[in-house]
Amino acid sequence: MGRVMFVNFGFLLLVISFVFLSNNTLGQQQDDDDDSAVYIVTLKQPSIVHHFEEQELKQIRHKHKKSKLKPTLQPRNNSRKHHGKSVRPSISQNHDSFLKKTLKGEKYIKLYSYHYLINGFAVFVSSQQAEKLSMRREVSNIVLDFSVRTATTYTPQFMGLPEGAWIKEGGFEVAGEGIIIGLIDTGIDPNHPSFSENDINSHHSYPTPKHFSGVCEVTPDFPSGSCNKKLIGARHFAQSAITRGVFNSSEDYASPFDRDGHGTHTASIAAGNHGVPVIVSNHNFGNASGIAPRAFISVYKALYKSFGGFAADVVAAIDQLKME
Ligand SMILES: *[C@@H]1O[C@H](CO)[C@@H](O)[C@H](O)[C@H]1NC(C)=O
Ligand SMILES: *[C@@H]1O[C@H](CO)[C@@H](O)[C@H](O)[C@H]1NC(C)=O
Ligand SMILES: *[C@@H]1O[C@H](CO)[C@@H](O)[C@H](O)[C@H]1NC(C)=O
Repeated sequence: MGRVMFVNFGFLLLVISFVFLSNNTLGQQQDDDDDSAVYIVTLKQPSIVHHFEEQELKQIRHKHKKSKLKPTLQPRNNSRKHHGKSVRPSISQNHDSFLKKTLKGEKYIKLYSYHYLINGFAVFVSSQQAEKLSMRREVSNIVLDFSVRTATTYTPQFMGLPEGAWIKEGGFEVAGEGIIIGLIDTGIDPNHPSFSENDINSHHSYPTPKHFSGVCEVTPDFPSGSCNKKLIGARHFAQSAITRGVFNSSEDYASPFDRDGHGTHTASIAAGNHGVPVIVSNHNFGNASGIAPRAFISVYKALYKSFGGFAADVVAAIDQLKME
């Protein structure tokens, strides 16, 4: 948190991007002989973010009382990143040993450990095993993973930006400057001119973002050089889909590449460069612009063309985004 920020509309896009279908579509997948399924388990112990927020609150209260004391906890800075990294393995190990202890000698697959959004994990288990997990006092909540799906959304004019927020904030030339927008969607087409690092409207190139620890996955269909000074991070999350056997790598690409187009669309709405001509079949539709055209983009692909997506993968994407 703090590192990658959702500006309001980014958050809005995120929310609009998911249409939660039903939380029991598992029946539609063929689970061979048993009733194994993916469950999202939340533990009672708070997440890392919660922990840090508590610490920071305590610090602030303390400072108020004795203003001479130097703060020992840095404000949001890289130091927190290192801190986070060192805590990370042990939380994941806690989840592993909790599972091992609860499901002694049985088979299960842990898909993700969640550290930031919630303290919990996604696991592929039978309903009997899920029952066992739910009986543990450490567990606050256990839900069947469910499917989610994209829905297209619109538009900068709709929000009145050209006459409103852009003017107030100094014009589209600087709108979003220095902000990183995290997008959880179907990925991105890195070749799209909306994400070029050569912003034709600006004489100053994109700076190196501060406080960002994200990475850019490199795969044959998302080769090195796909990311640039504007598109600064890209990953994909598909463990739940793979475990269910619905992931088709030739349709969906095991990479941040957007096969669907939805993610490229929402990313360009949120932060595409300003003044990108849109010409389709020789017809000029005018110039497109993102809402915050100078913002950086970091992509977390968790939704797919052929099957939509699953909450366990979306939560993993949000968890990662919070870390970065
Ligand atoms: C951020 O943390 C690093 C240590 O990780 C420190 O060297 C640096 O001075 C800090 N920067 C600020 C602005 O506090
Ligand atoms: C995966 O997608 C390809 C291309 O659309 C298709 O030919 C193939 O049958 C699919 N595989 C499975 C297992 O559905
Ligand atoms: C569209 O952008 C181009 C530069 O890319 C500019 O020359 C042209 O005037 C713009 N058109 C409109 C209608 O703003």
